Amino acid sequence: MTNNSTNYDAIFSGVIGQEYELLKLICPLVTEMSRLVGLTVKEYSKASTELLSIIELGGGTGITTLSILDARDNIKILSVDSEPVMQNQAKTNLNQWVVEQKLAFCGDDALTALKNTPSQSIDIVASAYTLHNFLHDYREQVIHEIYRVLKPDGQFINGDRYALDDVSEHTRTTQHEVTGYFKVLTGINRLDLLEHWIVHLFSDESENHVMRETISLNQLKDAGFVNIQINHRNEVNALVTAIKPRT
Ligand SMILES: C[S@@+](CC[C@H](N)C(=O)[O-])C[C@H]1O[C@@H](n2cnc3c(N)ncnc32)[C@H](O)[C@@H]1O
Repeated sequence: MTNNSTNYDAIFSGVIGQEYELLKLICPLVTEMSRLVGLTVKEYSKASTELLSIIELGGGTGITTLSILDARDNIKILSVDSEPVMQNQAKTNLNQWVVEQKLAFCGDDALTALKNTPSQSIDIVASAYTLHNFLHDYREQVIHEIYRVLKPDGQFINGDRYALDDVSEHTRTTQHEVTGYFKVLTGINRLDLLEHWIVHLFSDESENHVMRETISLNQLKDAGFVNIQINHRNEVNALVTAIKPRT
């Protein structure tokens, strides 16, 4: 993968098209997070040339998937998404990698897909902006399944909304985020998208979904992960990595 953001954006605009451009405009931190997930996959795997097996949770239209594909040649990704409208766009956008047998799709929900995966068979479970959509109980089960399917030394990489522990600061940051949505989306007269983002934000911020930083990191620790790190934090967005120990 290149660090040159102009080249990177050109690749993504070419493959993902207008959707990427719009997302970059509304929420640049979201597209940046997909880039960081890809870079982290590249970093993890640079010592080895062996085939890297990856499960991606919540592939959506393929922005994060493409970033992971761009990280390495010798790769096999199973991209999981339970929403066909989203996944069908990825299937169209990323067909060339399916033909090359680097990418396959699964339409199950994340927990079902993981439960159908053999123990200790996966090098990396990667995701962006998906786990924060889960209810707490479901997310906890997903974390345990991620741990089970990873090989020893395997890595969990998640770029997502991790709510700040300081609730007041989190509220201020979210308010700032909402102001940005209004500015950009009224500017391009997309009130339909504005409505969609605001409605979705209520779900993200609700008590039964919100993924508070320390609670989330402790959840990974309780599942058995080590070397749990927040590698980047930008407003409510953070990149979390964790390793399954060899024991
Ligand atoms: C915000 S999108 C993220 C897409 C992409 N990773 C990105 O960063 O642009 C979240 C995706 O997760 C999927 N999703 C939500 N809950 C899911 C679940 N329980 N199992 C599988 N996919 C799920 C949604 O359908 C959606 O496509």
